Amino acid sequence: MTPQEVLFKARRMVRLHGVGGAARWAWEGAWDRIVFSERHIWYELSPPAERPRRELEPGLTLRRGQVADVALLEDLETVSPSDARSRIESGNDLWLVLDGEQLLFSCWIFRERTPVLAARGGGLSLPPGMVCLEDSVTGTAARGRGIAPAAWCAIADALKQEGQQRMVTKVTVENVPSRKAVEKVGFREAAIMYHRRLGPLWRTSVRALDAEGGRFFVESLDSRAA
Ligand SMILES: CC(C)(COP(=O)(O)OP(=O)(O)OC[C@H]1O[C@@H](n2cnc3c(N)ncnc32)[C@H](O)[C@@H]1OP(=O)(O)O)[C@@H](O)C(=O)NCCC(=O)NCCS
Repeated sequence: MTPQEVLFKARRMVRLHGVGGAARWAWEGAWDRIVFSERHIWYELSPPAERPRRELEPGLTLRRGQVADVALLEDLETVSPSDARSRIESGNDLWLVLDGEQLLFSCWIFRERTPVLAARGGGLSLPPGMVCLEDSVTGTAARGRGIAPAAWCAIADALKQEGQQRMVTKVTVENVPSRKAVEKVGFREAAIMYHRRLGPLWRTSVRALDAEGGRFFVESLDSRAA
């Protein structure tokens, strides 16, 4: 992260959570660089398959975001506008849900390579036909209205049109709202991934939960398999 990015995130944390919240965020971030452990579930959905439908409330619109939209992201706890610009310029898709001019939700579809802290080199290469959903966030005041599932359902429809076969995403084990939300549109658990870091040492282990889809995550991400 550049110094400008750090400053941007710190300012946003103060605006959204006050000085105390921002200080806690800075302390936890510093500690996480030394000792760190996390567990994620990798989920998978097949865009061409039969899957549950979810619709946005009338009046809300879903659309692809352009570079001209990145300033809107300042209202959500998500990537900075400058990160967003470089993601779009690298060929990834930003999706937005708006109520008029107000941004309620955003997420990303990564193509070819997706950022994964637990992966060697910090990224996971995606084979043809597979894309990764990342950084989904609904504004705090808009949560619980089914906005994220409805957006993902329509995004999966768009991915089906372009011939994508596998839409994957990862969710921390403890993130119950997110796990409930992805399961509403037919995402299925494919693998569980444990990642531990102590200074420069790290280890990632992956166990398949679904024999078919899980193998890809074990082969690509388990550091013991290298
Ligand atoms: C995960 C997230 C995107 C879901 O978005 P959403 O549009 O609120 O999705 P839903 O309306 O389907 O709600 C999903 C679950 O959130 C919980 N929820 C409901 N109302 C809520 C509220 N007011 N505030 C917080 N969570 C709420 C419920 O458990 C709900 O499941 P249920 O409908 O089965 O009870 C949203 O909670 C969020 O932005 N979280 C913070 C960022 C994050 O964790 N992103 C996911 C990274 S993988």
